[in-house]
Amino acid sequence: MEKTLEAQAFDVYTVRKDFPILHQEVNGKPLIYFDNAATSQKPQVVIDALDTYYLKNNANIHRGAHYLAAKSTEDYEETRSAIQAFLNAKNVEEIIFVRGVTEAVNLVAATWGRANIGEGDEIILSEMEHHSNIVPWQLLAEEKGAKIKVIPITDEGELILDEFEKLLSPRTKLVSIVHASNALGTVNPVKEIIKKAHQQGAVVFVDGAQASVHLEIDVQDLDCDFYAFSGHKVYAPTGIGALYGKIDLLSAMPPYHGGGEMIKEVSFEKSTYNVPPHRFEAGTPNIADGIAFKYALEYVNRFGKKNIAAYEDSLLSYATEQMQAITGLRIIGTAAQKVSVISFVVEGAHHSDIGTLLDAQGIAIRTGHHCTQPLMKRYQVPGTSRVSFAMYNTHEEVDAFVIALKKVLKMLL
Ligand code: ALA
Repeated sequence: MEKTLEAQAFDVYTVRKDFPILHQEVNGKPLIYFDNAATSQKPQVVIDALDTYYLKNNANIHRGAHYLAAKSTEDYEETRSAIQAFLNAKNVEEIIFVRGVTEAVNLVAATWGRANIGEGDEIILSEMEHHSNIVPWQLLAEEKGAKIKVIPITDEGELILDEFEKLLSPRTKLVSIVHASNALGTVNPVKEIIKKAHQQGAVVFVDGAQASVHLEIDVQDLDCDFYAFSGHKVYAPTGIGALYGKIDLLSAMPPYHGGGEMIKEVSFEKSTYNVPPHRFEAGTPNIADGIAFKYALEYVNRFGKKNIAAYEDSLLSYATEQMQAITGLRIIGTAAQKVSVISFVVEGAHHSDIGTLLDAQGIAIRTGHHCTQPLMKRYQVPGTSRVSFAMYNTHEEVDAFVIALKKVLKMLL
């Protein structure tokens, strides 16, 4: 197969050598891992960083008076700087370590949200949000008597921006929007949304869980107020992620969890709080995974997001074309701008049966509602089957998947 010019910028077969997990058989067949939107696999450099930390450097950070504590603190803080660069944030203090996007949304809802959202205020979300960008705001809205409004989408899975503009009002305090949909793949025009929201004086939170591994993110250019992403979707370990917040907002926010590290002074009468980011990082953090996070970001930077995206786009269009040719198969999410996610349904074949039978052939996909039940309701489907590609997937794997899918559908229909 002919490769695009961009796709030649890195050799996928060399990349694959960096991911040990890919080289195994599952159910007697070579593993084809197409569940990257759920979590990505880890390159050897990330696995080595975890090993090195526990074999040589394990110590608590920001506290100890000894060599290992200083070394671990330095390594952990280097990741913060790497994240700052990855997002093009202005200040390193604008980067808060969190477990992932879910924790980031909960943090902002519980701090900025509690301090700034009141009765009758409005929060705008979209029909394609993940539950993690719905439920924390619902909890806040219930507590405060605020209202949630929802931007509808087209059948293709694109936001209806005219409707968004109609929803904006002087009561809009927050717009919280996904950058790229985990269930549809749609890339949303967040820059435009942010601009319109700011014109109404609203603050904007962007959920970058799926976007951060595919798109170049520049929080200064986007002018978002908050941006969050999870390490494990960007080849880093699970349990570590980052929340970006504009420094003025962070500085005015009350703390999240109380405990060590987030304080300036503590007495039984009154405690005072540390400056950001430490104000929001109580307790011993996830040090090992935090340190390994930097190696994952460096790995991505080594190839360049533009090159990775171009390669993944070629997988996306190659797979889309072949899947569209399968009788009875309907792709859910056909937006013009997509990350490498394909959700589909097949009339008469249940998504979980498709998933199970593909697994029997060594092919890992996700099935179900993808934590987007309102979106499934919008399309009137109980769930979908979803394939999602990463930089180590190949066109040959797509071919094998399509053959396997056709076989599965013959069994089911
Ligand atoms: N949100 C992740 C997914 O889409 C877990 O699979």
